[in-house]
Amino acid sequence: MRSDAWYKGRDRDSYIHRAWMRRGLPDDAFDGRAHIAIANTASDLAPCNSHLNEISDFVKNGIWEAGGVPLNMPTVSLGETQVRPTAMLWRNMSAMATEELLRANPIDGVVLLGGCDKTIPALLMAAASVDIPAIVVPGGPMLSGTFKGKALGCGTDVWKFSEELRAGKMSEADFLKSESSMIRSRGHCNTMGTASTMGCVAEALGMTIPGVAGTPAPDSRLLQSAQETGRLIVEMVKLDRKPSDVMTKGSFLNAIVTLAGIGGSTNAVVHLLAIAGRLGINLTLDDFDKTGSKVPLLANLQPAGNHLMEDFFRAGGLLALLNELKDLLDPTPITVTGKPLVNYLSDNSIFDETVIAKRDKPLQQSAGIAVLYGNLAPTGAVIKPAAASKELLQHKGKALVFDSIEDFHKRIDDPNLDVDKDTVLVLRGCGPKGYPGMPEVANMPIPQKLLKQGVRDMVRICDGRMSGTAYGTVILHVSPESAAGGPLALIKTGDVISLDVENRSLNVELTDDELAKRKPSTEMLDSLAAPQRGWEKMYIDHVMQANLGADLDFLVGSSGSQVSRESH
Ligand code: FES
Repeated sequence: MRSDAWYKGRDRDSYIHRAWMRRGLPDDAFDGRAHIAIANTASDLAPCNSHLNEISDFVKNGIWEAGGVPLNMPTVSLGETQVRPTAMLWRNMSAMATEELLRANPIDGVVLLGGCDKTIPALLMAAASVDIPAIVVPGGPMLSGTFKGKALGCGTDVWKFSEELRAGKMSEADFLKSESSMIRSRGHCNTMGTASTMGCVAEALGMTIPGVAGTPAPDSRLLQSAQETGRLIVEMVKLDRKPSDVMTKGSFLNAIVTLAGIGGSTNAVVHLLAIAGRLGINLTLDDFDKTGSKVPLLANLQPAGNHLMEDFFRAGGLLALLNELKDLLDPTPITVTGKPLVNYLSDNSIFDETVIAKRDKPLQQSAGIAVLYGNLAPTGAVIKPAAASKELLQHKGKALVFDSIEDFHKRIDDPNLDVDKDTVLVLRGCGPKGYPGMPEVANMPIPQKLLKQGVRDMVRICDGRMSGTAYGTVILHVSPESAAGGPLALIKTGDVISLDVENRSLNVELTDDELAKRKPSTEMLDSLAAPQRGWEKMYIDHVMQANLGADLDFLVGSSGSQVSRESH
């Protein structure tokens, strides 16, 4: 085992390693027992993860039971709602910190505790690059809060209420009153936003105990699963079952089928591309369209549908949903248990068909991510048709261009804004390099004057991302981004943009010659950050485009788990 390189000798160095770690550990703790890190993203500043210490305690119980030695390893945590300028700027830093901590320490295996949006992706990226045995325990969604008798979808209802307030349909007093009802319990957002999506996707990849994804955070069964996970990771170390054995191209394709079936967040696209990159797996944007776009939508969950994660779990959960899609799944990739995911499906039934639809009565026939190309997105852009308005999926309209999110906020509610329901809102300067960090701003609020006319959706185009809890006809992740030479930087207000989702095209009606003559918008260039030092500088210099997962170029791949030299 790796930890033997620290503890096995009889010399001064091994003496130091053992002596400083003892602190109550038994003598045989260093005698061939698996040392398991619990990479723990609990933090008071990541409120969706603040309960993970309790989960860690149950993982520890399982590790002790199986003869291992559990070691709590706090790692970089990111609170989606708190971190500025955007949590995505720090995902790769979190992944890098966890990767290096795992490699530098006497660790034989790791249990990954995440929840809030970026935490599970960062942990999986790290585990993939070190490639020691690893299992995820997703922190789980919160219970459904209610306001005025109606269940509240966190995130989704914030966007909805804020639009109602701007439209004059909701009072400010009610808006503020709803705030204390939004977060009912411990756990992450209770919609099928990015956190719930990544929990499900981690399970579809095979990286959790099957059946755990979607277990509400306060549910005692989550603690039971945590304890089982603790036992299993010790077993996995004995068998040397690594992330690269579990996460194969087939398991990524299973994750894509899952993403479509649950109506999951578009953010999963960049995260899955980044995780695959760490494993050397050739996963592309086109795989999402090819494998996912024809998959039926079965989960009736906000933001695309009506219900919340607590309902999903009660209705049978992820395994019941995947049982309906069994024939679309690759039966060969193993999970952390050593058995394929499909082996766990047949015992699971749907208990409430209003929450999880049967295969023969899907909510939508083709639900996955559609990938668009054209002279506005030469290397791709994505749209989630399930969350879009059907009548806008084929659309032609004049662009109204904003050079930064500040420019957008300044002008969007101007009563004299030249805009109508057919206008295409364009926001640029929000890609990985541009903002920097690719913020969740693509779901631009509808102009107030149109809200008052009853308009609730418009075509919107952006090189940033959108919150997994958001909805609308939003084309996002436009690559290359405007700050990296993408054509989005060249268009002007009034240019005609045509969108045809069925034919997968996104174009501005300008000839190549006209585009070539144009220069990038100076207002957009002036709005870009120009950090001179620190992480932001490193990030801007090395981040790749969204179609490649927005990882740093030098973090792609694995450095393995070799034990490095030391000196005391
Ligand atoms: Fe943490 Fe939504 S803010 S999951």
